[in-house]
Amino acid sequence: MDIKDKCALVTGGASGIGFSCASELLRHGAKCVIIIDQNNVAGLEAKEKLKNFGDKRTVFFPCDLTNKEQFSDVFRKANEICKGLDIVVNNAGICDEQHWDLMIDINFKALVRGTLLTLDCMGKHKGGKGGTVVNVASIAGLTTLGSLPVYSGTKYAVFGFSKGIEIFYNSTGVRVLTLCPGVTKTNLVEEMNDKLLDFVDVEATKKRLGSLPLQETSAVAAAMMKMITTAKNGATWVIEGDKPPYEVQIPHYSTLKV
Ligand SMILES: NC(=O)c1ccc[n+]([C@@H]2O[C@H](COP(=O)([O-])OP(=O)(O)OC[C@H]3O[C@@H](n4cnc5c(N)ncnc54)[C@H](O)[C@@H]3O)[C@@H](O)[C@H]2O)c1
Repeated sequence: MDIKDKCALVTGGASGIGFSCASELLRHGAKCVIIIDQNNVAGLEAKEKLKNFGDKRTVFFPCDLTNKEQFSDVFRKANEICKGLDIVVNNAGICDEQHWDLMIDINFKALVRGTLLTLDCMGKHKGGKGGTVVNVASIAGLTTLGSLPVYSGTKYAVFGFSKGIEIFYNSTGVRVLTLCPGVTKTNLVEEMNDKLLDFVDVEATKKRLGSLPLQETSAVAAAMMKMITTAKNGATWVIEGDKPPYEVQIPHYSTLKV
């Protein structure tokens, strides 16, 4: 897929990985990028920062993704403005083990809703033109990192759900891609140590996460552009430590018998 002249929507695009992705989509020639985020101040700042790509190419909709009516309304409005979205990046997420039910609502339930809305708007089975959805999981969705059991669970769920949806490509025409970033310099990582469950050792967590390779959001955004332009339906890619991204395939469980 060529990004040039395409319309994209990025959830959680006001900061961190989502903002870098919105910026890269515009740099690759996207006609329009719609940012959906609950942080109004950061969203308006993001729009201002992206002004240099052209005033009307970035649209910001404040929206709490856990509010299903609001999310559905905003999504359909975005689809109308674009006369049909081409790319949806389900990126918004939090890492807050102490508010684990809210985390499940944002990291998994809103991502499921975003994917189903995408299929509804873009799916060829509904008269749409097809397109691409990128679901942002994590390396914590491929292996448990130890200190983040619920966060990890939500990311395993993102991976499993994306695998379950990709098989309908022949009828939907919507490629489903899963991106699993490693530890990336954003607010989410900076703040996570204050949001652990009470039996989790903070110092051990800092040490464990500190031993993992760290990367900039620009590396994740670059990997996402490569994925959107080249990856096959159903692909899962890892991007970690500012190294080139790579595809992973999970072996069938029968081969894992011990
Ligand atoms: N930073 C990392 O190390 C890392 C690693 C792997 C995966 N991820 C994933 O990348 C994604 C982006 O995270 P980030 O690190 O850029 O974090 P971030 O905190 O910098 O950005 C997340 C954005 O999502 C928005 N958001 C949160 N809850 C929302 C809601 N209910 N409604 C609307 N918007 C909401 C926030 O306002 C924020 O702008 C998340 O899904 C995260 O799990 C991050």
